[in-house]
Amino acid sequence: MGKTLDLTLRIWRQKNVATAGAFVTYDLEHIDINASFLEMLDVLNEKLTLSGDDPVAFEHDCREGICGSCGAMVNGKAHGGEKKTTLCQLHMRHFKSGDVIVIEPFRAKALPVVKDLVVNRSALDRIIESGGYISVKTGSAPEANQILVKKDLADQAMDAASCIGCSACVAACPNASAMLFTSAKVVHLGSLPQGSTEAAARVVDMVDQMKTNGFGNCSNEYLCEAACPKDIKVSTIAKMNKWYKQAMTNQRLSE
Ligand code: FES
Repeated sequence: MGKTLDLTLRIWRQKNVATAGAFVTYDLEHIDINASFLEMLDVLNEKLTLSGDDPVAFEHDCREGICGSCGAMVNGKAHGGEKKTTLCQLHMRHFKSGDVIVIEPFRAKALPVVKDLVVNRSALDRIIESGGYISVKTGSAPEANQILVKKDLADQAMDAASCIGCSACVAACPNASAMLFTSAKVVHLGSLPQGSTEAAARVVDMVDQMKTNGFGNCSNEYLCEAACPKDIKVSTIAKMNKWYKQAMTNQRLSE
């Protein structure tokens, strides 16, 4: 084994949404610096399980930065604060032996704690349900070059489509706003020919759903952009606001 770390973890433990939570301290020794953050938690959970204690609940699936399942606040930063990095892709070499690492769930009224580090993200699903799809009949898949899409619009759509819905943007925002998430979905679909037919209704429905789901408003803090592991820019929010205004005044949506 290469270089290892001895750590003190202060982890938020909470049985369920109805009970109060608290930080619990754990000491962990000989953690390989090449381990991922989730692998470090796996080591802790194996230790807890073997001693008959309840393991720490945390979400994960792909562990490759793709699915958006993982996420927690690490020392006050969503996903640990490394640029363009999900929690599953954060590695222990970013820490020093002797560090005290504070780990807590993403905090927002709209994201209630299910258990420990797991939060209920169905409020984001409801935003998607309200318009994050294309329902017009587009027929079978055409030949790739048959529908021409301008390069800048294709880039705009693909950049927005990289959102994995992890909710780090909500957790990082002092207003717990879901504007970056919602705008990513709105701009992704509305920038492409297949999605433009419903773009006006989509932006109004999704923004309205976001407001009724308990998320706060954007006040241009830019913390969502800094926390986003997929580097989605706040210019996506500006685009959504422009489209929302155009849709509400029956204007044609700009590109
Ligand atoms: S577990 Fe899939 S993005 Fe982290």
